[in-house]
Amino acid sequence: MAESRFGAEPKYVIAPSILSADFGELAREIRAVEAAGADWIHVDVMDGHFVPNLTLGWPVVGSLRKVSEKPFDVHLMIEEPDRYLESFVKAGADVLTVHVEACIHLHRTVQEIKRLGARAGVSLNPATPVESVLPILPDVDLVLLMSVNPGFGGQSFIESSVERATALAAAIARTGKAIRLEIDGGVGVGNIARLARAGVRAFVAGNAIFASGDYAATIRAMRAELAKVD
Ligand code: DX5
Ligand code: ZN
Repeated sequence: MAESRFGAEPKYVIAPSILSADFGELAREIRAVEAAGADWIHVDVMDGHFVPNLTLGWPVVGSLRKVSEKPFDVHLMIEEPDRYLESFVKAGADVLTVHVEACIHLHRTVQEIKRLGARAGVSLNPATPVESVLPILPDVDLVLLMSVNPGFGGQSFIESSVERATALAAAIARTGKAIRLEIDGGVGVGNIARLARAGVRAFVAGNAIFASGDYAATIRAMRAELAKVD
C-alpha cells in the first residue's frame, strides 16, 4: 500500500507530532516541518476515553494525506482500535500503532494492521512493563515507548524511560529483526543523543519542534546531536 512512501530507511527518524501544531493551519504546518527536514509525520489520535483528550479521526488523516508524501506515523490512543484500523489505513496511515493496554487480542490486531498493508506498531505507557510486548515483538514493525503519560504535548520526559528503552532495544536485537524503537514524549535536543545511545531509532517531538521559532533549526540541532552518537 504505502510502503513506497518510506523510501530509503534513515538510521534515525525524526517525526514531528502535529499535536503541537496549529490545528487551524495543519496543512501549512505539515508542509513546514517537511521542508524543515522531518522524516515522518506523527499523528496523535485520542478518543477522550483511553486518554483524557480528544484530537482527530481518519477524515483529517485523509485530508492531510493530500498535502504530504511523507510516511504518516499514526498513534492510536483509543479504546477498541480494531473498529477503526481499516479506516485509518485507507485514509493513508503508513505506520499504525495501537496501545498494548487497549488491546485484548493484541496478536489479532497486529496481524490485521499488516493485512491491511500498513506497518504495525505497539505502544506502551510509562507504567506498563516492557515484558508485556515481548510475546508480540517478532510480529511488529515498530515499538513506541511512551516517555510521558499519553494525552498531552509539552510534558516532561520521564527519566526511567531511558532504562526501559535500553531493555527494549536489547529485546529487539534478540529477535534479529528490523524493528524500529520509537520514543514519544518530552523528547528534544537535550535528550535525543542519550536516547539514541540507548537504542532508540525514531524520535517523536511535538513541543520541541512546534514551539520553537525555527522548525528547521531545531531539527538540524537534533540531527547534530545524533551525529555525535555515530
Ligand atoms: C502524547 C502524544 C505525543 C505528544 C508528544 O500523548 O502521544 O505524540 O505529541 O508531545 P511532546 O513532544 O511535546 O512531549
Ligand atoms: Zn504520539
